Amino acid sequence: MTAGSRIVAMGHYQPSRVITNDDLAKIVDTNDAWIRDRVGIAERRIADAESVADMATSAAEKALASSGLTAADIDMVVVATCSSIDRCPNVATRVAARLGVTAPAAFDLNTACSGFSYALATADHAMRAGAARNAIVIGAEKLSDVVDWTDRTTAVLFADGAGAAVVSAVADGEQPGVGPVLWGSAPEKGDVLKIEGWHPYIKQEGQAVFRWATTALAPFALQACERAGIQPSELAAFVPHQANTRIIDGIVKRLGLGPDVVIAKDLIESGNTSAASVPLALSKLVERREVPAGAPVLLFGFGGGLTYAGQVVRCP
Ligand code: UT7
Repeated sequence: MTAGSRIVAMGHYQPSRVITNDDLAKIVDTNDAWIRDRVGIAERRIADAESVADMATSAAEKALASSGLTAADIDMVVVATCSSIDRCPNVATRVAARLGVTAPAAFDLNTACSGFSYALATADHAMRAGAARNAIVIGAEKLSDVVDWTDRTTAVLFADGAGAAVVSAVADGEQPGVGPVLWGSAPEKGDVLKIEGWHPYIKQEGQAVFRWATTALAPFALQACERAGIQPSELAAFVPHQANTRIIDGIVKRLGLGPDVVIAKDLIESGNTSAASVPLALSKLVERREVPAGAPVLLFGFGGGLTYAGQVVRCP
């Protein structure tokens, strides 16, 4: 048993192929100005041969390498994904096999774009219960597999990538670095974002999701801060799901976050990578050392389901 857990290290992977808005304008009726104005994306990364498991493994390798731990220390692997085509074996066991992690608890979790915060909370709870000591928690998506490339309303939004965290139980007397989760869903609205059927494509009622995101979510993000005993003004950074800069700006305004708080807007260069978006953006902030180690960062994911989850973490 332990008082909690902390994120020890982050890592991320993005495919090398960059697709700009002008590239997309050649295949669907869209243009750079519309995408930048309405969504905020300038370019995104799209995988070639890489699978969800490939990208998840690469992100996890980087996180593990900078954690000071080895594969032998890991006893849990959790992968948040909604786009993995293969159902069995799950992505987590594939990642574990490639990293050489032996006998971990290994499972995938699907709450779409809120997946990383759900997965992080699940690993944290397992550590509090004494069921794990060192976990790799990953968000990984290959959304290009489930995008209808003739549908301009979704083709301009989604992308591929992975982010991973090494999460460890804190030592006796050490303060936890993963705050209590605020999680939930609005299942009655679930049909506004779907990836369903045998040959699934993403279908989204964009305005309905937008309305929900800009009206319902700020109070939940605030509750995540309250549960951690942190005022929004004390945050060093806010890393929300990377769907739309207008949604992010709306939540930032309602939380009253000032200019000193770093706001992740990785979607500008990465697009919307669903469950990967929060760990990908956090990993880049850590890599660029834009947030001091130990500083409080609010993570907040939301999307398909409709689900949401967030928690305040101490920056690794
Ligand atoms: O990650 C999971 C969670 N998802 C989200 O958080 C997404 C939330 N929703 C959104 O971010 C926005 O609703 C979108 C970015 C998806 C769409 O932006 P919008 O401002 O809500 O656009 P709209 O759907 O109201 O469409 C406005 C116009 C329409 O044309 P008319 O009817 O006004 O003539 C669309 O047909 O823009 C048109 N349109 C486009 N035009 C150029 C839709 N997609 C495009 C496009 N390029 N790609």
